[in-house]
Amino acid sequence: MRRVKVLETVAQVQAWRASLAAACKVGLVPTMGFLHEGHLSLLREAKSRVNGGKLVLSIFVNPTQFGPHEDLDRYPRDREGDLQKAAACGVDMVFCPRSPDELYPGPTAVWVDIEGLGEHLCGATRPNHFRGVCTIVSKLWAVVRPDVSVFGKKDYQQLAILRAVQRNLFFPLEVVGMPIVRESDGLAMSSRNANLDETSRRQALAIPRYLETVRQRFASGQRRVAELIGDAEDKLAPGSIAYVEVVDTTTLQPVSEIRRPALLAVAVHFGGVRLIDNTELLP
Ligand code: PAJ
Repeated sequence: MRRVKVLETVAQVQAWRASLAAACKVGLVPTMGFLHEGHLSLLREAKSRVNGGKLVLSIFVNPTQFGPHEDLDRYPRDREGDLQKAAACGVDMVFCPRSPDELYPGPTAVWVDIEGLGEHLCGATRPNHFRGVCTIVSKLWAVVRPDVSVFGKKDYQQLAILRAVQRNLFFPLEVVGMPIVRESDGLAMSSRNANLDETSRRQALAIPRYLETVRQRFASGQRRVAELIGDAEDKLAPGSIAYVEVVDTTTLQPVSEIRRPALLAVAVHFGGVRLIDNTELLP
């Protein structure tokens, strides 16, 4: 199989981008690597949207979106495996910054942050997380200058926030959101699943089962959130819950009764591994 082109500096990526014809469309899928089928579905979607143009994958475990006690050091990596999968998906160029200094040149830090959309869900439990995400994705958009950038709905809040960044900073590109890809037993695919031991991996199935239980209650007409999610602790045991919330899909503010499209989103730790998942509840 052909080797994919790998660039490691901002200057190289800018030169590569400048060498493309004006009419050449560029698609970008930002990731932190350890690629799985969820990531690959984004790459395929981006490929289909550039009409024979160029597909770019970025792989960078972005330190600024991790808190001091989070799993930055434990985040799984597999550069060779990722490059093979990228080649198989028709990626034209992989941007693997050789060190964080490449994207955070300093001497002063410049941040992109949002007001609103970040108070609940992951924003409430991971201070500064979304500031790190908004900043790195803005930098990637500025360097790669894609026409389209594809993200997964598994990180629903991240997608909503990045749409707001694109709109408010006038990045001339389309943000596309794609459905959650799951393992055959229902667990949402995640690079972090690699850190689950056998027992925790089995216990983590409580998450998709719980989402299904709530979906069924909703389908049978229940609209009161207290009734829908009241038994979360019980149903997600022995996981340790970071949050279980039902929010409005547009504002990401909690609702007590579902009258408009809503999102049930959860973050639960199993064996010390933080897993997130969600499902839309559409009245
Ligand atoms: P990462 O967790 O590697 O995810 C990269 C992209 O893949 C995100 O858009 C995420 O929503 C999507 N994704 C992950 N699991 C998925 C699944 N099971 N189904 C569908 N899509 C899935 O998200 C990040 O990296 C980072 O925050 C990043 C945006 C790269 C900024 O550092």
